[in-house]
Amino acid sequence: MSKKPPIESPFATWSPSSWQAFEARQQPFFEDDVELGRVLERLAVLPPLVTPWEINRLQQNLVEASAGKRFLLQGGDCAERFDECRPDIIANRLKVLLQMSLVLIYGLRMPVIRVGRFAGQYAKPRSADFEGQGAERLPTYRGDMVNAPEFGRQARRPAPERMITAYERSTMTLNYVRALGEGGFADLRHPEYWDLDFVTSDHLRAEYQAIVDSILDALRFTEAVSPLPISNTDRVSFFTSHEALLLPYEEAFTRATSKGYYNLSTHFPWIGKRTNTLDSAHVEYVRGLRNPIGLKVGHDLEARELTAILDRVDPDCEPGRVTLITRFGVEGIEEALPRLIDVVNASGHPVLWTCDPMHGNTEITEDGLKTRRFENIQSELEQAFDIHHASGTILGGVHLELTGENVTECTGGARGLEEKDLHEAYESQVDPRLNAEQALEMAFSIVRKCRTMR
Ligand code: PEP
Ligand code: CO
Repeated sequence: MSKKPPIESPFATWSPSSWQAFEARQQPFFEDDVELGRVLERLAVLPPLVTPWEINRLQQNLVEASAGKRFLLQGGDCAERFDECRPDIIANRLKVLLQMSLVLIYGLRMPVIRVGRFAGQYAKPRSADFEGQGAERLPTYRGDMVNAPEFGRQARRPAPERMITAYERSTMTLNYVRALGEGGFADLRHPEYWDLDFVTSDHLRAEYQAIVDSILDALRFTEAVSPLPISNTDRVSFFTSHEALLLPYEEAFTRATSKGYYNLSTHFPWIGKRTNTLDSAHVEYVRGLRNPIGLKVGHDLEARELTAILDRVDPDCEPGRVTLITRFGVEGIEEALPRLIDVVNASGHPVLWTCDPMHGNTEITEDGLKTRRFENIQSELEQAFDIHHASGTILGGVHLELTGENVTECTGGARGLEEKDLHEAYESQVDPRLNAEQALEMAFSIVRKCRTMR
């Protein structure tokens, strides 16, 4: 790897490590600096997961999404788990994302950019640094890249070696995603790959089948009238994304190229709500990257601070550079989003607007489980479409926490899950995800909403 001189910027010199001079929130405390240094040195020379060409292609796609010519579907687990790096779990998650994208492509009549929250989504921000049980006080679980969720001294110790495991699991995941995407997994002519055994609702099943049938019809017709095979109908591409939270890890994958520095551990890093502030090490870190970046925006970020952040991370007002992922909650979006849109419009930054209708809608049940109501998720998303429409801006995508498994973490949806059902298959260690059926239903709901707006 060739060492490049640091990039000059109007206010300070940026380098992959310049974030270290800023306050880095949400970082674990590693006891052994020598061990940490050894791990980071190893990571810094390992092959990257993605390439700059793929990243540039994603940015081009995001530019089209901000012009309303593509739709961004970003989804996956709140946090990946090392022991869920399994073929069935990866394939099921891919399957539901594919099925959702098929519904969206067909219903919205535009290409869909599929971005997984996977192959690196292993670090989590937490509201507290420590957690107590009885007399014992231990560091909180911060994702498998840092420590383990079990309440025990050894499990909760932040262990640098886990970054190597995170890298390896990310690589295995992405390798399998790429193999499935290239290998005909999504070939529409093999409908057995498209079975809907997780769908209990007859209505959803029939709606989906009708779409598949009509696409197959169109394919057969085109093939009958054209002697050439239709290219690419059996290939699908996925991009990866994760929260760029654990900065030493991100730095190790920040690689110099002739076009500048790229984070090559993922196509699309985003900054979470808790670290998205002007003075943060995270904003400093992403500012020098050539990757497109996502910024989560919630209530606590003042519009003026956001525009200052935009000026810093996007000084050239570059299309596709910044995606704003708003997450206000069903109660708050109506007041917060229109104001935000006005301020961002006035700033001149050509952002892509997307909505995360999950993180502002988390509730705790009487039994102490974190949950989200399907109808609240749906309603925040519908309001986002309406507000953008009324403001003359475009909602170009959605950011969802979902799984291909049949879990019971969010209430509502076609199966009418209630709070009392949540114990049946509640698996998340962090946030509640839409199960496969609820996720597919959400895709239909987006299509229905968009049709009413035409
Ligand atoms: C997340 O995406 O899992 C998350 C923690 O979101 P936010 O930063 O928006 O709270
Ligand atoms: Co989450």
